[in-house]
Amino acid sequence: MIKLYDGRAPAYGIVARTLHWLTVLLIAVQFVIGWTMPDVHKDTQPVGLIAWHLGVGSALIAVMVLRVVWRLTHQPAPDDLPPLLGFASRVTHFLLYVCLLLVPLLGWINASSRGWQVRLASVVPYPSLSPTGSPFGHAMGDVHGILAWVLFALIVMHVLAALFHRFILKDHVMQRMAPGAGPSRDAARDS
Ligand code: HEM
Ligand code: HEM
Repeated sequence: MIKLYDGRAPAYGIVARTLHWLTVLLIAVQFVIGWTMPDVHKDTQPVGLIAWHLGVGSALIAVMVLRVVWRLTHQPAPDDLPPLLGFASRVTHFLLYVCLLLVPLLGWINASSRGWQVRLASVVPYPSLSPTGSPFGHAMGDVHGILAWVLFALIVMHVLAALFHRFILKDHVMQRMAPGAGPSRDAARDS
């Protein structure tokens, strides 16, 4: 039987919450590196901050794949928001997921088109997604930079919404994703 969220424990289980806050950390680092690393030109080598961008990016890709698989197989307890607010929240979360997958994917395609090998933890090689010198792969680098701004705007909206729930509406939405311990509510359908 489906139980509505009552605010007594996090609605997301420990795995979903860990993956959420790990994504937050990796994304924050990735934006700082993306905005401070040197401009990438035809003959640029993937060293220094650019190597860090590829390294953090490869970790982010792995975490996002895990997160999407986990999310598709473990539903949080349903929220009890008014219909319009619930709809806005679901649309924003969906768009966040789309950008969280698309931005890294386009960066990976661009890296491949430059002949750069993307490796997880400098060890596990990811496949090349684009032939070296491909104009499509090159163009995807520009789209990557633009979509990173769209992702940034969604994150700002998302964080403001979370703070609005916490300090203005004073409801339990923050508690749903609180990083601290608490009984797991994943697969709440079964409880
Ligand atoms: C959500 C994760 C990511 C964010 C927020 C992000 C952000 C950025 C930003 C802000 C830039 C600079 C764009 C510009 O100056 O126009 C950039 C460039 C770049 N990123 Fe990412 N990035 C992410 C993931 C990745 C991943 C996973 C890879 C590859 C594995 C990657 C590879 C690149 C490359 C190759 C460039 C240079 C693109 C070019 O100038 O043509 N990025 N990224
Ligand atoms: C890089 C920054 C962030 C990203 C990419 C992000 C992404 C997401 C995504 C995709 C969800 C939907 C989870 C799902 O249903 O599977 C979510 C939920 C949530 N996030 Fe974030 N988040 C970020 C930062 C934050 C911050 C800083 C806060 C707190 C101030 C926060 C609070 C929440 C809360 C409370 C939920 C649960 C909302 C609900 O179920 O109604 N997030 N986040």
